[in-house]
Amino acid sequence: MSRILVTGGTGYIGSHTTVELMQKGFDVTIVDNLSNSSIDVLDGIAAIAGRKPDFANIDCCNFMDLDGVFRQYPDIVGVIHFAASKAVNESVEKPLLYYRNNLGSLVTLLEVMKLHRVPNIVFSSSCTVYGQPDEAHLPVDETAPIQTALSPYGNTKQINEEIIRDEAHADKSLNATILRYFNPIGAHPSACIGELLNGVPQNLLPFVTQTAAGLRPELKVFGNDYNTPDGSCIRDYIYVVDLAKAHVKAIDRMLNVEDRDQVEVFNLGTGNGISVFTLINEFEAATGVKLPYTVVGRREGDIEQVWANPKKANEVLGWKADTPLRDVLASAWKWEKKLRKL
Ligand code: NAD
Ligand code: WQD
Repeated sequence: MSRILVTGGTGYIGSHTTVELMQKGFDVTIVDNLSNSSIDVLDGIAAIAGRKPDFANIDCCNFMDLDGVFRQYPDIVGVIHFAASKAVNESVEKPLLYYRNNLGSLVTLLEVMKLHRVPNIVFSSSCTVYGQPDEAHLPVDETAPIQTALSPYGNTKQINEEIIRDEAHADKSLNATILRYFNPIGAHPSACIGELLNGVPQNLLPFVTQTAAGLRPELKVFGNDYNTPDGSCIRDYIYVVDLAKAHVKAIDRMLNVEDRDQVEVFNLGTGNGISVFTLINEFEAATGVKLPYTVVGRREGDIEQVWANPKKANEVLGWKADTPLRDVLASAWKWEKKLRKL
């Protein structure tokens, strides 16, 4: 059986992807420095998949350590690279940390992959590379222009994509799949794994579930005067389990389809634009919990509206994000209740 190296595999999206890979019969080795995750996640994965993945507590920026992992597991056939720092605000305050970690980890990984002749990488990119697409590019497909990044974090994703393209140009044996995620939400239906947060959540869904759980007095809706049907911002919220499944499809394609471009890019979203108010209403309908909120001013740097055209991923990967939003929101609530022992 083939082995996949999952960097950042104890993190939010990495843990869900590890489960899907294992359930499809792949062996998985996770490398993670636990800078934003816990070793206990391995137990959560085992509770679902029936066994623990192999694990190495190492930093992907460390060449020797990463080289050691590839030596230990000569059956690695592909890598899914999640490991990165991802807090947009923090990246504005500590840009060097973000450039060092997010660029250094990818460069080191590509060097070690080359040394060990492992040709396949799936890379976690983001819809942030599109910024605010103009009306003609909504919903946004993969041909929409990349815009100047709004944060050092966003810039690392753009530069990472360029690094991959440049290296693929130089080394024709390298195959890459760049996945641009929209807004991942929810947790595994078992509630054995989910998103673990440090401090006050920056993203909408964790703030919603923590408010519903009574940890926060109310949700602040950032603006109701946008040029959208109900005045609040619009995003494409994608279920993390659907997202995880797309990674298995991407790996399968790299391992089994010869007639593919050397570097392929896919938008991973549902194709549905959901406003903040709609999300609140759907959360209440899905859970029966009333969510206290007030409208406050706009958040600086917010994108007004962006959602995906996922046609390419639907057709080429044979993948679709089709879990109903209410089920997704119920999974997020189930996870929050488990965390808070409610
Ligand atoms: P996460 O923080 O939960 O997971 C990332 C994992 O990488 C963590 O477990 C962390 O400990 C680990 N890590 C970080 N730097 C490392 C290093 N140098 N060496 C080893 N391990 C390291 O984040 P996530 O939400 O699962 O995101 C995974 C990837 O998807 C990231 O690249 C992120 O930028 C990207 N992404 C996330 C979102 C989102 O909204 N969650 C959206 C688009 C793209
Ligand atoms: C969603 C909507 C807010 C919190 C961020 C990153 C981006 C990406 C995904 C990684 C917006 C509103 C939020 C709150 C609110 N990830 N909101 N009250 O803005 O799409 O993007 O996460 O690559 O790079 O910037 O997601 O969850 O922060 O916000 O009203 O307390 O919810 O204004 O409209 P966003 P988000």
